[in-house]
Amino acid sequence: MESATQRGFAQKYGPYALVAGGSYGLGAAFAEGCARRGLNLVIIARKKDALKATATRLRNAYGAEVKTITADLSNYDDVKKRVSALGVDIGLFVYDAAFVPIGPFADATEADLAAAAAVNVKAPLLLTKLFSGPMIQRGRGGIVLMSSLAGGQGSPNLATYAATKAFNTILAEGLWKELSPRGVDVLVCTAGAIMTPGYEQAESAKPAPGTLPPSTVAETTLGALGNGPVVVPGAVSKIGRFMMTRLLSRRSAIGIMSKNTGGLS
Ligand SMILES: NC(=O)c1ccc[n+]([C@@H]2O[C@H](COP(=O)([O-])OP(=O)(O)OC[C@H]3O[C@@H](n4cnc5c(N)ncnc54)[C@H](OP(=O)(O)O)[C@@H]3O)[C@@H](O)[C@H]2O)c1
Repeated sequence: MESATQRGFAQKYGPYALVAGGSYGLGAAFAEGCARRGLNLVIIARKKDALKATATRLRNAYGAEVKTITADLSNYDDVKKRVSALGVDIGLFVYDAAFVPIGPFADATEADLAAAAAVNVKAPLLLTKLFSGPMIQRGRGGIVLMSSLAGGQGSPNLATYAATKAFNTILAEGLWKELSPRGVDVLVCTAGAIMTPGYEQAESAKPAPGTLPPSTVAETTLGALGNGPVVVPGAVSKIGRFMMTRLLSRRSAIGIMSKNTGGLS
C-alpha cells in the first residue's frame, strides 16, 4: 500500500520522472527509487536491450508506466524532439549519464572532448531549461544533477570530466536559490566512488574506500530532494569533500587528487 510519504513525493514530483541515463547502474537505481515512490517514468539510454529490461522490471515490480527513448544524449535536438513527442508532464528530472574521457589531456581527441561537453554540459543544461519552464508554471517539481568529488578541484588525467562536473555543481547551486521560491527543488549529488558498471570498467584496482552501491546513492539523493543545494552520500565522501574544498589549499587538494587520478591512462 502507498504510504503518506510516497503520496507526498508523487504529488510534489509526479506524474513522470525522466531519468537521462536510466538503464543500468546508478541511473537504473534512480529510476527504481522514483517508481517505488509512485512516479511513472521516462528513461533514456543508448542500448535498447538494457533499457527495455529495466522498463519491464520496473513495470512488473511497481506497476509504473515506463516509457523508453533509445537515444544518444550527445544529440540534444533529437532527444528534445522525442521527449516532446511523448506529451507527458515531467515533474522530476534526473540527469545521470556522463561521458568520462580518462587519461592525459595531451592525448585526448577533439571528438572525446566534444562528447564530454555535449553529454555532461550541454544536455543537462538544455534539458534543465526544457523541463524547468513547465515546472515553474505548475509551481512544483524537482531537478537532480549528478556531480562528483572529482569536480571539487582540478583532477589531473580527468581534467575535462572534473570540469564538466564542476559545471553541474555550480549550475544546480544557482538554480536551487532561484527556483526554490517558485516551488522547484534543485539538488546536486556530489558523489564519491559508486560501484556501477562504468566504475568497475575504469578501475582495475580494488574499489576506493567508501565506495557505495548505486541504490544507496540514489536513495540518499532522492531522500534529500527539497533539502538542497548539495547532497554528499556516505561519511567517507562527506569528510573527503570537506577536506578537499574547505580545509586544504587548492594546490594541496589538486596534489592529493593527483595521487588518485594522476596515473590514469
Ligand atoms: N561511478 C562512479 O564512481 C561515480 C562517482 C561520482 C559521480 N558519478 C556520476 O554518476 C553518474 C553515473 O555514473 P556512471 O558513469 O557510473 O553511470 P551509470 O549510472 O552506471 O550508467 C550510465 C547510464 O547512462 C547511460 N548513458 C551513458 N552515456 C549515454 C549517452 N551518451 N546517451 C544516452 N545514455 C547514456 C547508460 O546507458 P547506455 O550505455 O546504454 O547509453 C546508463 O543507463 C555520472 O553522472 C557520473 O559522473 C559516478
